[in-house]
Amino acid sequence: MTQPQCAKLRSVVVGLGASLPKRVVSNADLEKSLDTTDEWIVHRTGIRQRHIASDDERTSTLAIAAARAALEDAGLSGADIDLVIVATTTPDQTFPSVATQVQAALGITAGAAFDLQAVCSGFVFALATADKFLTAGANKRALIIGADTLSRILDWEDRATCVLFGDGAGALILEAQEGEGTSADRGVLTAHLRADGRHGDKLYVDGGPSSTATSGHIRMQGREVFRLAVTMIADVVEAAFASTKTTPEALDWFVPHQANSRIIDASAEKLGIAPHKVVKTVDLHGNTSAASIPLALNVARDDGRIRKGDLVMLEAMGGGFTWGAALIRW
Ligand code: ACO
Repeated sequence: MTQPQCAKLRSVVVGLGASLPKRVVSNADLEKSLDTTDEWIVHRTGIRQRHIASDDERTSTLAIAAARAALEDAGLSGADIDLVIVATTTPDQTFPSVATQVQAALGITAGAAFDLQAVCSGFVFALATADKFLTAGANKRALIIGADTLSRILDWEDRATCVLFGDGAGALILEAQEGEGTSADRGVLTAHLRADGRHGDKLYVDGGPSSTATSGHIRMQGREVFRLAVTMIADVVEAAFASTKTTPEALDWFVPHQANSRIIDASAEKLGIAPHKVVKTVDLHGNTSAASIPLALNVARDDGRIRKGDLVMLEAMGGGFTWGAALIRW
């Protein structure tokens, strides 16, 4: 039940857009160069294909295209945005940030722009960060983007990792609007972030500017990641339910980070979320890291599932470990 409370600024979704590289690589394509099978990949992960960026498609290219689509969806221009946050682990260059490249391409000159790095949790971290700026009254409209080209840091000879990932970008525009301070308000109702650096060796990149002066490759203890993921995800989603006094029954859509179909199913089951409420795009996109949640939102919005007023839970977990959840009334 929602009790009337004091007026409160909310970060309301006013635009959404996405962009994928043109090239689609199926599991059958991977079979040609790797000791793997479509059956193994589908059975263990649910992934059937992924989009892989060509040489002329960079993280910024995808981020800018997704941002343009979100602006068009919102009926806004770059001049209406005063905060840009890009969640990425694979910027075009070590600096300047992708966020400032987006600014320049879209004619955004107001406020700040920066990249944020929390690997696969990046989009939830960016959303939570933007929400703080907007609800504090510091900014009016935030463009938040999850964009990654993890294909650039894959070891294409390591079948245990390279089959899992894909490239893409998704963008969301949040606008500060006054709500009533209840869970019936539109906008971000709560966001919870966590990190535990003791798990750094379970999922990492074996290079970087200050260590090897190269970008390195992804290394992963897959079983350990899998084992810990479900517990950590359930813990933070439960915190989001508890702080808003909402329940899995009240939820319209669960839009998890798309890493692995089995992690998604096990998390939903542990949380008591009905399978028909779970949005899954891992079959189409693979794990696109920070892009996976906005890409999934875009699919479910475009096919008519997610509508204005729906209660949507987002969650993600990634290297670090980092993890988080956000509850939004669309
Ligand atoms: N094709 C065929 N065989 C493979 C492949 C492949 N692509 N990759 C590994 N194998 C083999 C292994 O070599 C091993 O063979 P062996 O038994 O002869 O030694 C066998 O399959 C089993 O390997 P495991 O690694 O134990 O397989 P597992 O059942 O754990 O599945 C997987 C691997 C899919 C990576 C799983 O551990 C997983 O999903 N982990 C979560 C990781 C994840 O999603 N990471 C994404 C980033 S983190 C995040 O976003 C949450």
